[in-house]
Amino acid sequence: MSGPRRLHVKSFGCQMNVYDSHRMADTLAPEGYVETDAPEGADVVILNTCHIREKAVEKVYSELGRMRKLKEEAAQQGRRVVIAVAGCVAQAEGQEILRRAPAVDLVFGPQNYHRLPDLLARAGRERVVDTEFPVEDKFDFLTAPSRDKTRSRGASAFVTVQEGCDKFCTFCVVPYTRGAEVSRPVEKVVAEVTRLAAAGVREVTLIGQNVNAYHGEGPDGRAWTLGRLLHRVADVAGIARIRYTTSHPRDVDDSLVAAHRDLAALMPYLHLPLQSGSDRILAAMNRRHTCADYLRVVDRMRAARGDLALSSDFIVGFPGESEEDFCASLDVVDEVGFAGAFSFKYSPRPGTPAAGMDQVAEDVKAERLQRLQARIDCHQAAFNAACLGRTFDVLLERSGKRPGQLVGRSPYLQPVQVMAPASLVGEVVAVTVTEIGSNSLFGALAPAHMPAAPAASERSTPAFMGA
Ligand code: 5AD
Ligand code: SF4
Repeated sequence: MSGPRRLHVKSFGCQMNVYDSHRMADTLAPEGYVETDAPEGADVVILNTCHIREKAVEKVYSELGRMRKLKEEAAQQGRRVVIAVAGCVAQAEGQEILRRAPAVDLVFGPQNYHRLPDLLARAGRERVVDTEFPVEDKFDFLTAPSRDKTRSRGASAFVTVQEGCDKFCTFCVVPYTRGAEVSRPVEKVVAEVTRLAAAGVREVTLIGQNVNAYHGEGPDGRAWTLGRLLHRVADVAGIARIRYTTSHPRDVDDSLVAAHRDLAALMPYLHLPLQSGSDRILAAMNRRHTCADYLRVVDRMRAARGDLALSSDFIVGFPGESEEDFCASLDVVDEVGFAGAFSFKYSPRPGTPAAGMDQVAEDVKAERLQRLQARIDCHQAAFNAACLGRTFDVLLERSGKRPGQLVGRSPYLQPVQVMAPASLVGEVVAVTVTEIGSNSLFGALAPAHMPAAPAASERSTPAFMGA
């Protein structure tokens, strides 16, 4: 290949796509591809797509409309642009994308991107679709990024530890697009975390579609739980903070609870989707737990770590959801007092069981979404307000809007703006919260702003409304 080629990868959807996009760029770097921030001027554009809700898919097709124009303009200047669609829409729709979007040259699934150099070479000659689930493990073929590249991505990094899902919630496409649950071996995860730490990464988020179903092979040849893996990752020198996402309430076991009790580096913020407060709806969703089961898990977690805060996912307007069912979701938001939560209108997905059930009217869904979001916002505001005057460890990530200002994240993922020297980017420092903004907290470096020991100042319990 002659001269550097410019590559633009755009991620839609979840954090795993962000991770996969990085790995795609890493795999193409030795082939002479240099990443660009914008599609204009790129020789290859990859859209790494999300299929979770209809809206996410619509976004991809409208982006493809833009890419078609870009490609035509480049062609007029005698330049060829390769347009590729990756991720879950690629996996679910395959060939159909080539039919609907004539500008697309290449379609490949989430399990095939280690073959990118070869796929791109083929895409130069013909339109290519590769969505087979391969026998080999893509992670064994991916190139690691350079130290500088890792550094440029910041002090917080994602690490995929698990992929796929065997739960088959009746609304969800994930088991179809990402396939069956697979866990990466402990040693491979640890090697990746060690490499990241050596390049200056201070925080890792272990990710998986159902991350606490993790059962990767340990160095002893036995299957390790996520709790055990977290203990091991906490031992990696340089790693000050650990998070994991996304969890299923049924897969919270004693080892995970113990990790929250024992590991100061494990951040006290847990994303645990509930989806609905109604047992009738939870059963129709095939969640295989009740609302009371969920509350018991929350109690166990809070007993293990007093300063734990929770976030969640909710779906409104699932088929058959009555006003009474919906009110149960409002009630559980009050009961748990989530520090934040995502809420979505149910979106029927082709091929999933719930798509064939009796649907709730669109205007009812919209009205319920508004009411639920208002309730969640109220708790989030109360949680933020309760942070005033507290001192947190903040991982400073980048410069802020104002001169001399840095932006970091609190243990609860709240953005925190603080006046601090640029030399502290990438450090964990103690910050006292002095003001609560609408989208972020403002703080001042605590007197001895030496890099703080993980969680040293995070043990006081925040006030939860309704808890
Ligand atoms: N409709 C609406 N929301 C969905 N989610 C998953 N599938 C659907 C769907 N068909 C939501 C769930 C999940 C989050 C990632 O997306 O709340 O936890
Ligand atoms: Fe989808 Fe999560 Fe249910 Fe798996 S557990 S089917 S990823 S919602």
